[in-house]
Amino acid sequence: MAARRKLIVVSNRGPVSFTRDEDGNRVARRGGGGLVTALRSLVAHHDVTWIASAMTDEDRTVAEEAGGDAIEEVARDGSLYRLRLVSHDPAAYDWYYNVVANPTLWFLQHYLWALAYAPDIDRGLHHAWDGGYVPVNQAFADAVLIELDAQPDASVFFHDYHLYLAPRFVRDARPDASLGHFVHIPWPEPNLWRVLPEQIRRAIHDGLLANDVVGFHANRWRRSFQRSSRDLLEAECDFDSSICSWRGGRTFVAARPISVDPSEFEELAESEPVLRLEAELELRRPEFLILRVDRTDPSKNVVRGFRAFEFYLDAHPEMHGRVGMLALLDPSRQDIPEYAEYLGAIQRAARMVNDRFQRNGWVPVDLRIEDNFPLSVAAYKQYDVLLVNAIYDGLNLIAKEGPLVNERDGVLILSENAGAHEELGPWALSVNPFDLEEQAQAIHAAIDMDRGERRARLEAIREYVRAHDVGAWLETQLEDLDRWSAKAAR
Ligand code: F6P
Repeated sequence: MAARRKLIVVSNRGPVSFTRDEDGNRVARRGGGGLVTALRSLVAHHDVTWIASAMTDEDRTVAEEAGGDAIEEVARDGSLYRLRLVSHDPAAYDWYYNVVANPTLWFLQHYLWALAYAPDIDRGLHHAWDGGYVPVNQAFADAVLIELDAQPDASVFFHDYHLYLAPRFVRDARPDASLGHFVHIPWPEPNLWRVLPEQIRRAIHDGLLANDVVGFHANRWRRSFQRSSRDLLEAECDFDSSICSWRGGRTFVAARPISVDPSEFEELAESEPVLRLEAELELRRPEFLILRVDRTDPSKNVVRGFRAFEFYLDAHPEMHGRVGMLALLDPSRQDIPEYAEYLGAIQRAARMVNDRFQRNGWVPVDLRIEDNFPLSVAAYKQYDVLLVNAIYDGLNLIAKEGPLVNERDGVLILSENAGAHEELGPWALSVNPFDLEEQAQAIHAAIDMDRGERRARLEAIREYVRAHDVGAWLETQLEDLDRWSAKAAR
C-alpha cells in the first residue's frame, strides 16, 4: 500500500448523508452507489478530506453548524476523515442535478436518446447550465481552493459527470495543483457531443483537460475522449502515449477499471442478515435462478431483459415452472420524469411476462423494487445465471461482485457495451444488449452449460477480480497522479 498522503476527494454524492429519525435524533446514512463504495477504502489508508454536496435538509444543517468548515467523520472501519458538505442554492442544485447532469449528460453519455425526438436544447437547458451546472461547479471549486489553502500539497481527485467544470476553475487559481478526474460512465463518440451547444461541449472538454490525469473504466471510453478532445477542441492528442496537450498543459488519459474489495464481499456473504435472507430465498427459489441487480436506470436495459426472458420461455416450454428471474431493482432518481416513466415500463414489462406464463403458483418474474444490499448479496450466492445486459455502462460492478460470492457455479451473461466486458468478456457469455433473440439464447446456453465449464468460467472471473481489486485500482490512480502532475508545465 502506498504511503499515507493528503487527498481531497470531490464527488457530488458523499460517503454519508444525514437525516433525523422519528425521535428527532440525527442519523447518518451511508451514501449509495459504486463510486462511494469504491472510494471508501481510501479513507483507511490516507488523510482524506471529502467534499460533497449537502443533499438533505439535515446535511445543510450540519454544514451550517460547521460554519463552512469540514467536520470530522468516522468511517465504518473506525478510520477518521474530514467531510466538507457544500450547500448549494436549491434551485441551482435542481438545475444541475435534475436537468443537466442526469437527463442531459447521463443520457448523452449512455446513448439513451432517440435523436428524432430528444433532446430539445431550449432556453430551459441554457438556464440550467448557466444558473445550475456552472455555479454548482464553481462552488465545488471554491471549496477545493479553501482546502488547498490549508493543505497546499494535497492531491485533488474529482469524480464523475457532475463536476466537469470544477477542475478548470481550480487550475486557473492554482496552476501548480495536482488534479485528477475519474469519469465513471461511458464516453461516447465525438459526433454525439455535437448535440450539445458548442460553448457547452467545449467547456466540458476544456474542464476535463485542466486535470493532470483523466481516468475511465475502459479503453473504448479513453479512446473516445481523446478523439472528441481532438475533434471538438482541437487539442493535440497522441494516441500512443495517451497524452492530450491543451492550453499549455498536458493530460494523461488512462483506462483504469474500478473493482471491489473481495474480502469485504466474502465477509458480507457470511454475515447474519445475508444468511437470513439467503435462507428465505432458498426456500422459495426455482430450480434455475436468473438474477439481475440494478438501479432502475434506463441505461440498465431492464425492459429488454424481461422481453428476452419471455422469448426464452416461448422457446422452452419444458422449462416452465422450473426457471425464474429475480430482479432486484433499486429505485433511482425518481424526481426525473424519464426515470419515473422507466420504472413504470419495468413494472409493465414484468407484468406482461407473468400474465402470459404464470400458472400453478409459478410466477416467472419476481420483481422487487427496493434498496436492499444484503438481499442482493444473498441473491449473488444463489444465482445460476447473472444477467447484465446494460445498453451502455461505464463498468458495471455487479458483474464483479456476483461471481465473487456465488456458490452455484453461476454463469455471467454480459453486455458487450459494459466497460467490464474488456476484462471479463472471455469468461462470460457476451450479448448485444439490443438483440433479444441472442439474449434468450444466452439464457438457454447458460442453463444448459455443463457444470465443469460453468465452474471454470466462474473461477477465472474470481481469480481475475481478486488479482485486480479496488486497492490496486486506488494505488494505480495515485501513481498516475504522481507521475503526471506536471507542477511546472502550466
Ligand atoms: O458513476 C455513476 C454513479 O455516480 C455511481 O457512482 C452510482 O452508482 C450512481 O451513479 C449514483 O447516482 P446518484 O448519485 O444519482 O444516485
